Amino acid sequence: MSSNPTAVIVLAAGAGTRMRSRTAKVLHPVCGRSMLAHVVAAATAVEPRHLVAVVGHGREQVGPHVHELVPSALLAVQEEQLGTGHAVRVGLDALAEALGGAAGLDGAVVVTTGDTPLLEGSTLATLLAVHRDGGHAVTLLTAELGDPTGYGRVLRDADGSVREVVEQKDATAEQRAVREVNAGIYVFDGPYLAEALGRLSSDNAQGEYYLTDVVGIARRDGVRVGAHLTDDVDQTEGANDRVQLADLAARLNRRTLERWMRAGVTVVDPTSTWIDVTVTLEPDSTVLPGVQLLGTTTVAEDAVVGPDSTLTDVEVSRGARVVRTHAELAVVGEQATVGPFSYLRPGTVVGAGGKIGAFVEAKNAQLGDGAKVPHLSYVGDAEIGAGTNIGAGTIFANYDGVAKHRTVVGRHARTGSNNTFVAPVHIGDGAVTGGGTVVREDVPAGALAVSSPPLRIIADWVARRRAGSAGDRAAREAHGADGAPGARGGTGGE
Ligand code: UD1
Ligand code: CA
Repeated sequence: MSSNPTAVIVLAAGAGTRMRSRTAKVLHPVCGRSMLAHVVAAATAVEPRHLVAVVGHGREQVGPHVHELVPSALLAVQEEQLGTGHAVRVGLDALAEALGGAAGLDGAVVVTTGDTPLLEGSTLATLLAVHRDGGHAVTLLTAELGDPTGYGRVLRDADGSVREVVEQKDATAEQRAVREVNAGIYVFDGPYLAEALGRLSSDNAQGEYYLTDVVGIARRDGVRVGAHLTDDVDQTEGANDRVQLADLAARLNRRTLERWMRAGVTVVDPTSTWIDVTVTLEPDSTVLPGVQLLGTTTVAEDAVVGPDSTLTDVEVSRGARVVRTHAELAVVGEQATVGPFSYLRPGTVVGAGGKIGAFVEAKNAQLGDGAKVPHLSYVGDAEIGAGTNIGAGTIFANYDGVAKHRTVVGRHARTGSNNTFVAPVHIGDGAVTGGGTVVREDVPAGALAVSSPPLRIIADWVARRRAGSAGDRAAREAHGADGAPGARGGTGGE
């Protein structure tokens, strides 16, 4: 027999009514993945030959999501939710069909629920090992809870062996006092499970086919039943409403942060830092308070992110600084600086040693090494060559109302403040533009472009047109004790 389980069956057909959501319960995200995706990640870690998802409520959402995660997964549709025992039977039927008959069911079958986002593959691996080593037909994961309300209780004989699981609603007061609960995560011998499920009855408080009854049936059959009591209770906990969801997310986040801190990442304030499980950080990177690192974001060594930044699918290179920034699908080069108050939209690349400064929005903009956009600008659909500096308040006008166009600025160019680059336009290497220039035509390499009209100065205009105003008085004082207009001369009247 192969050491891999024959299948992991994930139960995800329930309604999840208490979420009060149009989104199926197991699709709600926790730290960068749906609850279901966390469970599927744990399941695939034990390398089952088949992954089976039992879907029902919201299956038009849940089914495609499962296939996105594991294209080869089998979907078993449970039309009516008649209980966990019925759900597993539906899953086994789909599995048997895929295997070309019940004979293929040989080996271990793991059953788990789809709403335990903290479950880890290592826990399933341990459960599988306990199952195999003990030669069990049934092995269940159990946990001891301070408040076991709602869970199935694990009843043991005087010798400590598991006798049965009794559901909260069917339990006597004495049984409800038991604090060891069934986590809803099991390993079964496949053929035994298929046979025992046929003997379930729905004669209980909820009128359902309880998977948990297989435990008592196995004991009465005299086959081996085992349990593994985990001390990591969080892993077995499910989210039934959004309060529990937030609570589990906080715990998973804390675990993620602790893992990174132990790996050499400085997290200054774990209570205000959120890091998705899909993010990677190198040792000696620093995360300041108020930071969210999401998706496939990576942070390299000596980089500092924060405070107060949200990065989604962003690559932060070695030694870079990202301060009070909102960024998505962007790359920040080595030793580059971004922020404060910057907005990097998809396709933005900041070269090594480059800068995107305060109140700058960039979209699909590629900055060469050392290129800088320091202040108050919009950089849309642009390429800026190495060593170029863009003046304050520059707009890369990429949209003519119909289509988007690109602007290319060469290397070591110096553009003045308050410029507008009307794309498509090309500014050559080493070119210079004056303040307030509107660039509508290509500027050759090394040229100076100036488009603002010459400055006119009309002397004593205020004295004539705003006589007696505070400005007039101030001007007279500036002109000297006699306060006479005309003291400064000028280009003449209007
Ligand atoms: C179940 C266990 C209980 C255990 C608890 C752990 C049973 C009878 N009881 O109770 O001993 O302590 O889990 O969380 O198994 N589902 C289906 N189809 C159904 C019914 C349920 O797919 O017809 C799925 C649900 O979507 C859910 C999982 O099975 O993911 C568990 O179902 P739920 O109704 O939450 O069982 P509990 O009452 O919590
Ligand atoms: Ca439950």
